[in-house]
Amino acid sequence: MTTHQLQTIIDLIRYGASRFNAAGLTFGHSYDNALDEATQLTLHALHLPHDLSPVYGQARVTEAEKEDVLGLFIRRIEERVPAAYLTGEAWFAGLSFKSDARALVPRSPIAELIESGFSPWLGGREVRRALDLCTGSGCIAIAMAHYNPDWHVDGVDLSDDALALAAENETRLHVRNTRFLRSDLFDGIQGEHYDLIVSNPPYVTDDETDALPREYEFEPEMGLRAGEDGLDLVLCILRDAPLHLTDDGLLVCEVGEAERALTDLLPELPLLWVEFKVGQMGVFVVERHDLVTHNGRITALAAARAPASAANGDGDGAAPGGLF
Ligand SMILES: C[S@@+](CC[C@H](N)C(=O)[O-])C[C@H]1O[C@@H](n2cnc3c(N)ncnc32)[C@H](O)[C@@H]1O
Repeated sequence: MTTHQLQTIIDLIRYGASRFNAAGLTFGHSYDNALDEATQLTLHALHLPHDLSPVYGQARVTEAEKEDVLGLFIRRIEERVPAAYLTGEAWFAGLSFKSDARALVPRSPIAELIESGFSPWLGGREVRRALDLCTGSGCIAIAMAHYNPDWHVDGVDLSDDALALAAENETRLHVRNTRFLRSDLFDGIQGEHYDLIVSNPPYVTDDETDALPREYEFEPEMGLRAGEDGLDLVLCILRDAPLHLTDDGLLVCEVGEAERALTDLLPELPLLWVEFKVGQMGVFVVERHDLVTHNGRITALAAARAPASAANGDGDGAAPGGLF
C-alpha cells in the first residue's frame, strides 16, 4: 500500500473504507458498511472513544499510529477477520461487550426490543424471571439484566466457550442479576419457569451455512447451522417453551431468513412479527397459550426430523402427539 499521503484520522477512515469496498468485504456483523467499520478499527487502534467528536477528524496521527491502523485494515482485508474480533469489542443495546471467536459477534435486532422495554409486547405483564436461551456472549441476558435490575435473568448455552465469554461480560458490565448455565436448550433447566423467554438460536440452513462469506468462518458453526430449513432448534423451542413459561408468559424468538419456512410449516400458529426501525427482521413474539394450543402439530413436526437439537447432537426424545 502506498499510504504516505495519509495524515489525519479522517484520511485513514476514508482510505480504509475505500480499500474495504474495493476488496469486496462482507459487513454482516456489528456494522453494515465499510465507513463504519473503518471508523471502528481506526478509533480502536488510536485508543480513542468510539463516539469521538467529528472535530478530531482533522487531527494528524504519528507514523507509529498509522502503522497500527493500517495493520488492522490489512488483517481485515487479507484474513477477513470480523472487525469486532480484531478490536475484541462489540456494542449491543448501548453496552460494550467483549467479543471473540468463542461466540458469535452480538448483532441481534432484539437489542432494539430490550432498549424499548419490549414495548408494546409485554402489555403490562410483570416480569420477575427472564431467560435468554442460546445466550452466546451473554449479550441478550446481560442487556436485559442491565436495563431491568429487578429482573432475575438466566442465560443458557450448550457451549462452554460461549459461557466463559458470557461470564467475562457479566463481570465487565457489573450486572448482578444474571446466572449462566450450561444447557442443551431446556434440558438443563427442568422445572424452571419464566415470564419472558428470549432466544436468538441458530437458524441458518445447511446450504446457507456452507455458502457463507469467509468472515463467518471465524464464528462457531454451532451458533449458525440449524438443519435443512434452519428450523431444527426453533421447532424444539416452540415445542418445549410452554413447559418453562408462566401462564401468560411470552416467547420472543429470532429466526431471520427462516421466517418463510416457519410460516409455511405452521401457518395456523399466531406468530406476531416485530416491526423494527428498519423493518421486519425475522423476530416473532408468541404467547404461551397459543403454543399450547398448537403443541400437537409442533411436536409432530419436531419429531419428523432428526432428533431434537439435531444440529448439535443429543435429542430430548419428546413423544409425538403433544405435551399438553
Ligand atoms: C445465533 S447464536 C446467538 C448468541 C447470542 N444470543 C447473540 O444474540 O449474539 C446461537 C447460540 O446458540 C448456542 N447453541 C447452539 N445449540 C444449542 C443448544 N442445543 N442448546 C443451547 N445453546 C445452543 C450456540 O452455542 C450459540 O452461542
